[in-house]
Amino acid sequence: MFSKAAKVLKFLSEYSQDLWLTLRHNGYSPLVERRRRQFYKLIIETHTIEKGLSLPRRRALFGRDKVRFVMSTLESYDPSFSPLPAQMALGALDAYLRFHREQDIEDPLLDEVEAVLERWRDHQVEFRGGIKPFKLDAVNPTSPIAWLQSRSSLRMFDGVPVSPDTVREVVAAAQSAPSQCNRQSTHIHLYQDRETIDSLLALQGGSRGFSEHVGNLFVVTSEIAAWGGAGQRNQTYVDGALFSMCVLLSCHSIGLGACPLNLAVTNAVERKIKEAGGIPTGERLIMMIAFGNMISEPLRVAASPRRALDEILHWHRCTAS
Ligand SMILES: Cc1cc2nc3c(=O)[nH]c(=O)nc-3n(C[C@H](O)[C@H](O)[C@H](O)COP(=O)(O)O)c2cc1C
Repeated sequence: MFSKAAKVLKFLSEYSQDLWLTLRHNGYSPLVERRRRQFYKLIIETHTIEKGLSLPRRRALFGRDKVRFVMSTLESYDPSFSPLPAQMALGALDAYLRFHREQDIEDPLLDEVEAVLERWRDHQVEFRGGIKPFKLDAVNPTSPIAWLQSRSSLRMFDGVPVSPDTVREVVAAAQSAPSQCNRQSTHIHLYQDRETIDSLLALQGGSRGFSEHVGNLFVVTSEIAAWGGAGQRNQTYVDGALFSMCVLLSCHSIGLGACPLNLAVTNAVERKIKEAGGIPTGERLIMMIAFGNMISEPLRVAASPRRALDEILHWHRCTAS
């Protein structure tokens, strides 16, 4: 009895410390350095422009508020912290402008974008990002690294349900994912009917602009019962994310497009998703994955350029030369 109470207290203590750590260091916290917060905010908002440009159908002058936000944040951003957000913002604004100019669309917003780009041309900041073509035959099968780097989140699906054999092939390959103590707590729920996909994607919210073309949807979950003590409180997400990555690579390996869809939702929304998808309450939602055959080329994807390696690779007392 005493040890059970101690376990519960340990959970409370650990979750309280998680709460403090998150409050102290999250992107809204005033205790976090302003330029660090701006770094992430600018990347996130710029990515929505890139993503908008990568969608199957693009509305004229979409994302006006985002474009204005990116332009104003760019003005106060210090590229010496990391050039990537500025490079991405300039690349995305440039692609946005070109997309509209190619269709002879005129608007004062586009003139503002042009003026911002002109000003930054003198700053020696490279324009990166926007959109890039996705070529099925560009994958070099003789180089595993080139193959790995050729995966992109794809949002241009033909909307047709893939065969049960193909689904089984994808998931069986993804089962090669490692899991803690080989406990394999990850489950994967498949949806191919329009009504359920629509209600699940409406609750998810991150597939606007391509949801109607999603004909195959996975929801990846992890069984909470596989985990015990307070130290393991986040392991559902670790194992679930590793499995999800393998699903993405497995789709890529057989030429299916796939796009991870975040389930960064409240508990109330998580419950609604479980209800809509017939998912047991004892499973934690990890992410959704839209997948399927792509429409015929030309295909485009958000460029999503990566940070300089030395920004994320930290060597700690390493001796190898
Ligand atoms: C956990 C997770 C959630 C994501 N959620 C969404 C989403 O809701 N909508 C979307 O269009 N893309 C989503 N993405 C895709 C990212 O935008 C994409 O992975 C990122 O820009 C890197 O690009 P790449 O996957 O093409 O390399 C998500 C990716 C991850 C890993």
